[in-house]
Amino acid sequence: MNLADLTKQLDALAVEARADFELTSRKDDLVQAKNKFLGRKGLVKSMGATVAQLPPEERPAVGRELNRIKDLIEADFDARMLQLDRQELDARLIASSADLTLPPRGESPAGGHPLIQIEDELIRIFRAMGFDVASGPEIETDLHNFEYLNFPPDHPARDMQDTMLVEALAGQQDLLLRTHTSPVQVRTMLKYKPPVRIIAPGVVYRHDHDQTHSPVFRQIECLHVDKGITLSHLKGTLTHFVRALFGAQTRIRLRPSFFPFTEPSAEVDVSCVFCGGEGCRICKQTGWLEILGSGMVDPNVYLACGYDPGEVTGYAFGLGVERVAMLKLGVPDIRTFYENDVRFLEQF
Ligand code: DAH
Repeated sequence: MNLADLTKQLDALAVEARADFELTSRKDDLVQAKNKFLGRKGLVKSMGATVAQLPPEERPAVGRELNRIKDLIEADFDARMLQLDRQELDARLIASSADLTLPPRGESPAGGHPLIQIEDELIRIFRAMGFDVASGPEIETDLHNFEYLNFPPDHPARDMQDTMLVEALAGQQDLLLRTHTSPVQVRTMLKYKPPVRIIAPGVVYRHDHDQTHSPVFRQIECLHVDKGITLSHLKGTLTHFVRALFGAQTRIRLRPSFFPFTEPSAEVDVSCVFCGGEGCRICKQTGWLEILGSGMVDPNVYLACGYDPGEVTGYAFGLGVERVAMLKLGVPDIRTFYENDVRFLEQF
């Protein structure tokens, strides 16, 4: 056999291989068909054995021919394999019972947590009234959380807020988990000259845990300081706020109270959102529900923060987001907000 004959025979093998491949309809048949040509005992191999009979100077050329044919057959094999893969997929899709023309099943994207929904709503209401949003740290100094707010050291007023202390390193100030968002009032006044008009939403901590109290909860603080701010501004702001939140018929009432950082201080009640003020189980037949603490900023707070109490006046209030959420959503137990049972969360 000479080189030309060999080449011709190899070409014929390639043609035959391709034809065989075309005839297969299953992948394992295709692999077998390939082995017939390229396997260890395949036709190309045995053709290669004839190389030994050729004169040495022709052997490299024969080797190249063999490789060329191998590559050709491999390529045909790969192409056919791809076709069979596609056919198999098509067949599987056709055979499956899925009806691809049906509309997709609705997905249920995660909604906002009810507390965050309510907080967002509260923030929206105050922003629309022109308040800026401020924030402060959750690990606070005793100074910001109490002293600047006119709670003297060891004063019994501190007992109103069961405080969780943070173990301090040597030389550090007394640290605690803030018990209210009121320190953001202090931080704002220390940083900005009057006038200020801010709300400060945030998480606060108290050692307290029952059906209506959680050791971790959310408040929104409000502070408005300017020349000539009076109690009427406070009443007007609160009235607008509760009406935006609970409806136009809602009324408020201020009851005298005490906070170290306001003078005078008042607890604010809203007409019961369940009975409209008639008296029911939830408002304990009073027709009123307590929703927040408020007052006119105490001059001592201005002095601590570098404001001149002879120049400016202002009001402040702080409300519990959970409390509002419970009233607004009709949730009787605060703990359900933190259990994250989807059957509860999905209702909002
Ligand atoms: N910080 C008070 C508390 O957590 C609530 C409060 C009352 C905030 C009166 C105020 C205020 O800004 O003026 O109990």
